[in-house]
Amino acid sequence: MAEAEGAALTCSGCGLALEPDFAFCPRCGAARRPGQAAPEADRRQVTVLFADLSGFTALSERLDAERVRAFQNVLFETLAQTITRYDGFVEKFVGDAVLAVFGAPVAHEDDPARACDAALEMLERVAALSREWAVRLGQPVTLHVGIHTGPVVAGSLGGAAGDAYAVTGDTVNTTSRLLTAATPGTILTSEATRGLAQHRFAFESAGELMLRGKTEPFVVHRLVGALAEPGSSRGLAALGLAAPLVGRTDELDQLLSAFERMERGRTQVVSLVGEAGTGKSRLIAEFLARLDADGRLARTAVRRAACSSLGEPTYGVFGALFREAYQVEPADPTAIAPVLSYVLGLEGEVHPDIEPEQLQRQIVLAARALVERRVEREPLLLLVEDRHWADIASVDLLRQVVDQLPDRPLMVLLSHRPDTTPPLVTRAAQSVIRVAPLSTDETRALVAGFFGASADLEPLQDFIAGRSGGNPLFVEEIVRSLVGRGVLQREGGRWSCATVSEAVVPPTLHGLLLSRVDGLPVAARRLLQEAAVLGATFDGALLRAVATEPGAIDAELARFAEADFVQPLGQWPERARYRFTHGLVHEVVYQNLLLSRRTELHERVGRALEQAAGPRPERLSDLEALGHHWSLSADKLRGARYLVAAGDWARAVYANDDAIRHYDRALQTLAECPGGGGDARTAHERLADLLGLTGRRAEALAHYEAVRKDSERDGDRVAAARVQRKIGGLYWEAGDRERAGACFTSGLELLGEHDDPIERAHLFQEMGRLAFRAGDNAGAITWAERALAEATHEEEAATEPERVREATTMRAQAYNTLGVALARTGRLTEAVEQIERSIGLAETRDLLQAACRGYTNLGVLFSSLDPRRSIETCLRGLETAKKVGDLGFQSRLYANLAVAYCALTDRCEAEGIEAAQTAIDLDRRLGLLDHLAVPLIVLGQIHQCHGEHREAFAMYEEALGLAEQIGEPQLLFPCYDGLATLYLDAGNTGQAEAYLTKAQEVCARAGVEPDALMVLPFLC
Ligand SMILES: Nc1ncnc2c1ncn2[C@@H]1O[C@H](COP(=O)(O)OP(=O)(O)OP(=O)(O)O)[C@@H](O)[C@H]1O
Ligand SMILES: [Mg+2]
Repeated sequence: MAEAEGAALTCSGCGLALEPDFAFCPRCGAARRPGQAAPEADRRQVTVLFADLSGFTALSERLDAERVRAFQNVLFETLAQTITRYDGFVEKFVGDAVLAVFGAPVAHEDDPARACDAALEMLERVAALSREWAVRLGQPVTLHVGIHTGPVVAGSLGGAAGDAYAVTGDTVNTTSRLLTAATPGTILTSEATRGLAQHRFAFESAGELMLRGKTEPFVVHRLVGALAEPGSSRGLAALGLAAPLVGRTDELDQLLSAFERMERGRTQVVSLVGEAGTGKSRLIAEFLARLDADGRLARTAVRRAACSSLGEPTYGVFGALFREAYQVEPADPTAIAPVLSYVLGLEGEVHPDIEPEQLQRQIVLAARALVERRVEREPLLLLVEDRHWADIASVDLLRQVVDQLPDRPLMVLLSHRPDTTPPLVTRAAQSVIRVAPLSTDETRALVAGFFGASADLEPLQDFIAGRSGGNPLFVEEIVRSLVGRGVLQREGGRWSCATVSEAVVPPTLHGLLLSRVDGLPVAARRLLQEAAVLGATFDGALLRAVATEPGAIDAELARFAEADFVQPLGQWPERARYRFTHGLVHEVVYQNLLLSRRTELHERVGRALEQAAGPRPERLSDLEALGHHWSLSADKLRGARYLVAAGDWARAVYANDDAIRHYDRALQTLAECPGGGGDARTAHERLADLLGLTGRRAEALAHYEAVRKDSERDGDRVAAARVQRKIGGLYWEAGDRERAGACFTSGLELLGEHDDPIERAHLFQEMGRLAFRAGDNAGAITWAERALAEATHEEEAATEPERVREATTMRAQAYNTLGVALARTGRLTEAVEQIERSIGLAETRDLLQAACRGYTNLGVLFSSLDPRRSIETCLRGLETAKKVGDLGFQSRLYANLAVAYCALTDRCEAEGIEAAQTAIDLDRRLGLLDHLAVPLIVLGQIHQCHGEHREAFAMYEEALGLAEQIGEPQLLFPCYDGLATLYLDAGNTGQAEAYLTKAQEVCARAGVEPDALMVLPFLC
């Protein structure tokens, strides 16, 4: 593609003269080096620059075509040179305009600033051209420019070999609108570009544009010029946030002791090495601040140079270090003056007669003399930041000077990134300080440093620690982008953070991260992308199975580890796993992929996983991975089914939050695929079951309603009845017994005589519980017996294990209902028998939910008869309820526990009150209004017992309000009874009698003896 080394390089595609270090032709995108493939098309953030000659049409109408053409050639050459100088890419010349891209095919960390620099330089150079051509053209000429930063698809999109590299996307169209709006001689930029370049350039507001197809006005700015004193792009001062230095005590100590050795006359060369953003500059700033605070900086001369990412001219860095401090007089008597002036950039050339070797020697001599003279006066600290961009000549010169002056009060402090090696010093003392990433704790401390330590910061700390890889710059930029997206908000003096889940690469870091990836050869980059599709951590064997070139994997992985893209995990080569060192690098590589390629790769991974896991994958991790990859492939339905299976798996081991997550994701996936209706119904229902269990009733209801509508539409009566029953259950929990009853009845109506016996058993069982809670014990017994008959019959008849299990569950539940109804009618021994039978059945078949109910009721039956046994039963029940994740039963059990503790008077104070309070809190949190009255009454009784009448009144009053709403005798009675005795104690016999009458009326209505309600307060 290019001509032989040494000869002038021209692009074989378009003939443009190429700089020697160019990998791709900036004009046509052809690869320069032989054998190097053109970059594949990808998605990336770039800065687009559109420049156009103002009034060109008029010019070409007026002038001869040949003259116009001649001018155009010169103009285009000038513009292309400027763009190339900032490593931009000339996408195309259209008419009299040029479209340039900064950030493709190769990204830089400062592309927006490069575009601004290029635009300003273009204006300047065209002004010069105008002066030159004004006479021939008959008028002066000028440019107008538009600049915008945003996402594009970049690459040779046609895929055919000769197709030119191009960028497409809304970002390009928007830039062209900015160009149109720019008046002659001006540069208009978008807010996005300004935000990324404002630390180096001055902008003026230029109002708003309305763009086609957009409702929001588009804010634009005029680029005025480069700032005389550019600021730093680092830090969050603009947001009013600053964090103290975190960690780095060892590194600071090392710097300070090197400084002390230098003060004692031993020349020191210290290199600070670390990735971009790890805090090298910050460390230097802290080091200088410490010296200053100790008064030592005043006795030391400090000279500093910061290298530009565009590279430095020969001796540029050395010149920058000394230029200002040394006004070399032309009449300097020493022989070194002319050479020194040259090195310091004060004079353009040296005498042409000097031989190169001789010149080299003279330069070293001059530089040495310069430094030597300086350190005679006071210690000298030379600071070179970002030495990876320094010119080789300067670094070499510094090295030779320090080696010739190894015993002076001289310290050279260099900072650089790991891809550059420290200079090889032989005689001066040298040390290398590695600036490692912050630990997870330090990263969290840094976040706390910005926002102050507070409990609600934790999710944010977790999120940032997980993605920043301990890089403080990444921490800052993630914070900045969260503020930009409104996730982090300041209200008054306080910051609050909405849930952060979505991973977005901060626009400020995009170029920095992508530039590392763009530095890889095409094949390596492809492999890194394939790894990124596997995930932030990935399996070596799986990568081999999906890689386009599996043969090269080992070598490439070693290269990735070397370049700190990935880290190996564990020591077993045959089961090697790897992790992307930075979450952000993983994201940028993944997002760099075209959507079509992502989809295709996810499918490849899905197939490889299926092959590895076999036809019936059983491990949760396999199901999750299969669900993830297939749901991002073209076969989304397949993905959704795996996700539902993963949800089922998690649900079976009571990992409810995980199960909810999987079902949720399955539903999101199904929403995107036609024909997934049946699957969606299953996922909705299972999700709702779990949401109900964990107290998220409103959400559960919405999912059930979706299933109900669907089932009724499709004429699936059993499903419709089942969902009616579940909806009824939710209403019941919320204290709306009437609505619950209506749901159960309508479920039974939906279900014909011959429909599913299990569903019938369920509905009978629910009716039985409802009757019991309404005080209709005879009705409860009848319903429970009907449920028992259906369940027993089905348990024998069914063949599928799932159905047998459900029939058994129904049986266990029916025994329970029988038991509590018997208890209420005074047949206590039989009641205990039935409930113990229920628990026994549930335990042997692992039906934990049913077991919870049994423990709850058994605990109540024992509470006054045998408090110790009651406590034991409740604790067993609690353990089970926690395992199942059922918060409703936990609350019931805590309430019962409180009663039992209080029966054992020595534990009432310590444990009884706490248990009752826990139950109250749980009920309030979950909105369990059908139960909240219970722990309130229990706590009321405890207060009453301790003579705390005021507190007792408060509890009873609240409980009574709830009990009257619900109308349940077992709740109303203790409220009336308790209030009656409280009034009696207070000497208010009138009120006491009124409540006593009410208590008696409740018993009469329910047909039970007061004793039955006294002894057995709350059964379910
Ligand atoms: N230990 C630290 N505690 C608190 N903030 C830090 C720490 N280290 C770095 N920072 C902050 O993180 C940002 C990036 O750090 P800095 O600019 O020093 O990185 P760098 O290593 O010099 O990067 P580059 O290689 O790009 O020059 C800065 O805003 C800095 O103040
Ligand atoms: Mg720095």
